[in-house]
Amino acid sequence: MSSPRATPSQDRAQVLDTAGFARVSLIAEREAGLTIPTAKQAMVQSRLSRRLAATGMTDFASYLSYVEGRDGVEERANMISALTTNVSSFFRENHHFETLREKILPGLAERARAGGRIRLWSAGCSSGQEPYSIAMCVLEVIRDAARLDFRILATDIDRAILAQAKTGTYDERQMSGVPKDLRDKHFKEASAKGHASWTANDGLRSIVTFRQLNLIEPWPMSAQFDVVFCRNVVIYFSEETQMTLWPRFAKVMPKDAWFFLGHSERIQSIAAPLFETRGVTSYQRSSASAERLSQPERT
Ligand SMILES: C[S@@+](CC[C@H](N)C(=O)[O-])C[C@H]1O[C@@H](n2cnc3c(N)ncnc32)[C@H](O)[C@@H]1O
Repeated sequence: MSSPRATPSQDRAQVLDTAGFARVSLIAEREAGLTIPTAKQAMVQSRLSRRLAATGMTDFASYLSYVEGRDGVEERANMISALTTNVSSFFRENHHFETLREKILPGLAERARAGGRIRLWSAGCSSGQEPYSIAMCVLEVIRDAARLDFRILATDIDRAILAQAKTGTYDERQMSGVPKDLRDKHFKEASAKGHASWTANDGLRSIVTFRQLNLIEPWPMSAQFDVVFCRNVVIYFSEETQMTLWPRFAKVMPKDAWFFLGHSERIQSIAAPLFETRGVTSYQRSSASAERLSQPERT
């Protein structure tokens, strides 16, 4: 794709040129592990133009110097937020939720009722549809989950999208993936300015905890996770970054814990022994040690 052109009302300083795009790519890779293909240069320019406007800057060169500088910490986070792709939907790749309901949750229910601690993790949860879909499955199978030691951790690098996820509010289009019986049970309807919206009720929210977490930085959690969803996230990372993540995920999963990836994501061959394939993009932790493959984390 050719470099983006200036429109008549746009002067040259507001065009993200090849050198500017290279600077953005470097920051995105270093800060979030994101690999941005050159074909996305026009999209990056359009998304960052909004950051230029928000910061009151008039040219990309000054904006990037600010972002790269010592005072640019907050704007770096805003820039990453502008660059991430947050597309999500309820019960996306539904076969994972069928596996969760039918094969995983009955066993976890038994363990929880015997006093066990159960943790599920939605890593890269975006606007919350994934963890709330998990929570609906949990409450379908284990109605008293909130009274047991049963929780879903939902994390994302992007504070803006997490704030949205925490509201638990979705419009009609977003709710289209939620069957009516589940919608009626777990959401309450409101209407603002003539538009219907639904907000997750307290029962659903009580078993989900949202936290900001950058996957390429150290993880503060001490928990072991029985199920991890990390779907449509590592597709934006280089193979090298993905390779650093597989052993880290393996280390927070006990043997037989389940791991779900997005439809176009796969665990690369060298890390494959850490997980046994259980169907399309579905895995269970094997007994292989993750130590051999571990690489130093970025700090
Ligand atoms: C396309 S969404 C996937 C949402 C959900 N998992 C799904 O499949 O519907 C990708 C999410 O990954 C998040 N993300 C990207 N880089 C990340 C990183 N380094 N650490 C944590 N989350 C990251 C983005 O902010 C975005 O919300």
